[in-house]
Amino acid sequence: MREIIEKELAVLEAVTAVSNEEVEQLRIKYLGKKGLFNDLFAQFKQVPNEDKKEMGALLNKFKSSVEQKIVLLKENLDNTQHASTDKEDLTKPSNLQSLGSRHPLSIVRNEIINIFSRIGYVVAEGPEIEDDWHVFSALNFPPEHPARDMQDTFFVEERSDNNHAVLRTHTSSVQVRTMEKQQPPIRIIAPGRVFRNEAISARAHCIFHQIEGLYIDKNVSFADLKQSLLYFAKEMFGEQTEIRLRPSYFPFTEPSAEMDVSCNLCGGKGCNICKGTGWLEIMGCGMIDPNVLDASGIDSKVYSGFAFGMGIERIAMLKYDVKDLRLYFENDLRFLRQFSSAF
Ligand code: DAH
Repeated sequence: MREIIEKELAVLEAVTAVSNEEVEQLRIKYLGKKGLFNDLFAQFKQVPNEDKKEMGALLNKFKSSVEQKIVLLKENLDNTQHASTDKEDLTKPSNLQSLGSRHPLSIVRNEIINIFSRIGYVVAEGPEIEDDWHVFSALNFPPEHPARDMQDTFFVEERSDNNHAVLRTHTSSVQVRTMEKQQPPIRIIAPGRVFRNEAISARAHCIFHQIEGLYIDKNVSFADLKQSLLYFAKEMFGEQTEIRLRPSYFPFTEPSAEMDVSCNLCGGKGCNICKGTGWLEIMGCGMIDPNVLDASGIDSKVYSGFAFGMGIERIAMLKYDVKDLRLYFENDLRFLRQFSSAF
């Protein structure tokens, strides 16, 4: 019995298997109902009592050696199977990493900043929670001006000196902050979020984005304003673009104008985007009112300047033919993914 076990242990040592069936055969041979172990166990009953202890231990060792060998063979088979499936096709493309994309409003904002930075403008910023002085008073809004009305402005905190804390309703407040800090020449572009108490619809939102421009130096004229904006329009909408300035009114500019660009879609003939006029309104502008310069500590007898302001959503809607403003704020990936190649 001892010889059989020792011989089988040596045989077991050398066994290899190339399939699960072979491992199963091995299990049946040794541990199956009619297998060697049960055979030996039957013989064990005849072993003399004084040898039982030693033989019992040997038999147990034999059984656990067989069990361990089976586990080992199975593990080896698993590993080689994995390796061989990995080997199957090394040329298979890996899973592509999906790239994020910029929001269309960021794309348009960056483009506008780039256009103006090429003619010397630098980016300026100011707070979103502002005060009445920077949003209204310093910009020459009369005390009873409707823009101060509760219906337009989000008031944050009432103050006894009437300089209430408000959410800025336009980025023109950054003009004032810049003029207070810096003497001319000033050439800034101020992008940012603005807030108005408006019902949300396809054409209006209570949060939107503007870009403000400001240029102050000696001898700045309306011709400079017009030429700078013509340059912008051509860069933004294409070389063939024309502009027109219509007289308008803003408290902080005199004279004031509204600028239209020729409609790119119909080439000026009239379509439903330009409502048959051939022109699209894109911004307000004008020569800075001397009161505004003086209120911020810039001598209006020495310096003059122009300012302009536009809505980023509006420019993006025209550029990408987006018909509903709400799409910009809903973060619907089906909308946003359409801009993924626009860098
Ligand atoms: N702040 C104006 C608005 O929100 C836009 C504007 C008009 C800005 C004329 C200007 C400007 O700087 O000169 O409607």
